[in-house]
Amino acid sequence: MSDDATSPNEAAIAFEMAELAAEFPQAGRKRMILPSPIGRIGTDTPDPEPEQLASLSPSAVMMMGDNPALPRMPAKPTLMDFFKLRFGDITFRHLLTSAKHAMDDGHEEKVVLACLLHDISNGCLVRPDHGYWGAQIVAPYVDEEVAWAVQRHQALRYFADESVGYAYPASYDRFFGPDYVPPEYIRREAEEARAHRWYMSARLVTLYDIYFFDTATPLDPEAFTDVIGRHFRQPEEGLGFDGSPSAHMWRTMIWPNNFL
Ligand SMILES: [Fe+2]
Ligand SMILES: [Fe+2]
Repeated sequence: MSDDATSPNEAAIAFEMAELAAEFPQAGRKRMILPSPIGRIGTDTPDPEPEQLASLSPSAVMMMGDNPALPRMPAKPTLMDFFKLRFGDITFRHLLTSAKHAMDDGHEEKVVLACLLHDISNGCLVRPDHGYWGAQIVAPYVDEEVAWAVQRHQALRYFADESVGYAYPASYDRFFGPDYVPPEYIRREAEEARAHRWYMSARLVTLYDIYFFDTATPLDPEAFTDVIGRHFRQPEEGLGFDGSPSAHMWRTMIWPNNFL
């Protein structure tokens, strides 16, 4: 071996430094972030748009592309990349634990996958009507029944089913107040779901839809590699770049701070 051979450790450090030095888009300019209206309107946060537009200059632009404040996504992102690099900690733990419990109880893999995906929209896209958004995000990549269950868990969460030991969530009393009544469209959807042949798949999602605050047990996303491999059609081009009907939703999660 010659004297100038680099050790694996040195090579790793050099690689990391190269990564850190890699240019972000709009280099050398101030990059302003305008929060999406959906996360701001109705809150106390004033609309920064007029001020930002007024301060545009050759050295101050609106952000487009990778934001250095977020972990950089790989060029061809996989489902697990979104779990690891984009989802908030609560969603990350919630989805993995729900799916783990469903798996440990011996449910079929489609149900395990539905549990793993059911709150994907809460991970880093939108919260309102999250079951509907989530179903659309995953629909091109999963069995129709999985997307169906993801959508219907939203409505079924509000209605008990004693036959499987599912009660109205105590957390909803805390979230919304004990006198909260779900709107008509939710009641209608729950009724329709109950009469559907796939009812139990969505019902099982609600049964495992529990927030486990046991932070001591480490969660291993790799435990689901096989289930994902068998039931989630990971596109070769990467999620966001395969031209599917929901590719734009995945791209929005990759670049949530894009101005347009
Ligand atoms: Fe949910
Ligand atoms: Fe959930």
